[in-house]
Amino acid sequence: MTQNPYQDDRGNKDRSIGNPDGIGTLTPAEGLGTKTSPAAGQPFLIGENMTGGYGKGADILHDCTIAVEKGEIAVIVGPNGAGKSTGMKAVFGMLNLRQGRVVLDGEDITKLTPQARVAKGMGFVPQTSNIFTSMTVEENLEMGAFIRTDDFRGTMEQVYDLFPILKEKRLQPAGELSGGQRQQVAVGRALMTKPKLLMLDEPTAGVSPIVMDELFDRIIEVARTGISILMVEQNARQALEIADKGYVLVQGRNAYTDTGKALLADPEVRKSFLGG
Ligand SMILES: Nc1ncnc2c1ncn2[C@@H]1O[C@H](COP(=O)(O)OP(=O)(O)OP(=O)(O)O)[C@@H](O)[C@H]1O
Ligand SMILES: [Mg+2]
Repeated sequence: MTQNPYQDDRGNKDRSIGNPDGIGTLTPAEGLGTKTSPAAGQPFLIGENMTGGYGKGADILHDCTIAVEKGEIAVIVGPNGAGKSTGMKAVFGMLNLRQGRVVLDGEDITKLTPQARVAKGMGFVPQTSNIFTSMTVEENLEMGAFIRTDDFRGTMEQVYDLFPILKEKRLQPAGELSGGQRQQVAVGRALMTKPKLLMLDEPTAGVSPIVMDELFDRIIEVARTGISILMVEQNARQALEIADKGYVLVQGRNAYTDTGKALLADPEVRKSFLGG
């Protein structure tokens, strides 16, 4: 990682809108299970050469590789139906891979259930149905902490520091919140397990550009605490601006892989996927 990978392009230009002090102490879970340090050169998370589909259906992913380093942001972009969500589900263990493997923090977790992966430090915010609308904001966060046996109030305070509006609305049913606020609930819920890797499938879907900017800034803050971010985004250009690494998927295959900056500068990528 470079000195400041987020400089100039973006950063917390709108800190005054959210929490000017940042989240400070949001800490990823440590020491869950026995872990070996990743071998030199091996990414913190890698879904490597993944091939597979749903049930007995045709393969959707074809030799697809997605990786993210510790504390960095990796972004997956590509056309509708390209297999972006399927790739995320494969990494989270919701797909039977016919080939390939998933390695988290040096440990091969290919055979683990999604629940077991949460215990290993994965947090996943799916593209749809990612909150309990009839429950209050606070109950959603409590649900997020379901695997924890320790006191999670400190983590809840960290989530409220990151998203102050959620503290204000903590007793309201989450379904009454705006789209952007609901996405904050979804992200906050996933943070309640103190993940080492946070996976977000289109966190800015359906929100205004200003709210998108705010959400991206909060995501950058989370990454700065050392949590790795793997994110699918329709707002490809803006997402690649904050991405350390970008993946363009087409028909379940890696079409382009590079730094966010390089992809933004690539004429082919611009023409085909970024609207010129
Ligand atoms: N649960 C499922 N069962 C069977 N096929 C599925 C399922 N979910 C997705 N697919 C198929 O897998 C392919 C990839 O879909 P996927 O949802 O991964 O694409 P995506 O890149 O996330 O698209 P979008 O941008 O619309 O979210 C599509 O052909 C889709 O029809
Ligand atoms: Mg999708």
